[in-house]
Amino acid sequence: MNFMKLAENRYSMRSFSDKPIEQEKLDLIMRAAQIAPTACNYQAIKIYVIRSEEGIKKANELSRCIFGANTVIMVAYDKNGEWHNPLEEGITSGQQDASIAAAHIMFEAWELGIGSCWVNLFPNSKAAEVYGLPENIVPVLLMPIGYPSESAHPAKLHKQYRPISELVEEL
Ligand SMILES: Cc1cc2nc3c(=O)[nH]c(=O)nc-3n(C[C@H](O)[C@H](O)[C@H](O)COP(=O)(O)O)c2cc1C
Repeated sequence: MNFMKLAENRYSMRSFSDKPIEQEKLDLIMRAAQIAPTACNYQAIKIYVIRSEEGIKKANELSRCIFGANTVIMVAYDKNGEWHNPLEEGITSGQQDASIAAAHIMFEAWELGIGSCWVNLFPNSKAAEVYGLPENIVPVLLMPIGYPSESAHPAKLHKQYRPISELVEEL
């Protein structure tokens, strides 16, 4: 599938089947995350694959947006390894690094027929605590991921776009 078709077709999936993601497909999805660009190539990202019953239970306690998925990917960054902008105090790359890795995950999954939903409605520091992450790791997003259930469908907000003329401006 070419990229524009992939990007046009993808939607946030909020209803998943029980079918587990095959390990070789998960490996491809992780490879897509691995090759995402990061600031200065520091690669200060950390990706957690949550598939155990206990891990999924914790995810459901953290967020109401897990949507019955049996796999959740948590994308995080390492605040000890992220890039710091020397020209702007306090601006660092961790959130951006994690976001582009997550986008790679989302699109590679979709190419494999696997849906996902980017979820930021969860308490980040509590997530770090309940999963026992090291102090330097900052969770950015949860991503329930898996094959669609029979009733999976795009939500109303899908394909509601602001016009390009409003989004884009020449300077
Ligand atoms: C940064 C970000 C945070 C989001 N957080 C949530 C969330 O917590 N729960 C949820 O159901 N969807 C979440 N979404 C999905 C958006 O609601 C969705 O992408 C948007 O409505 C457009 O729909 P589409 O992805 O189907 O095209 C998030 C998306 C992004 C990019």
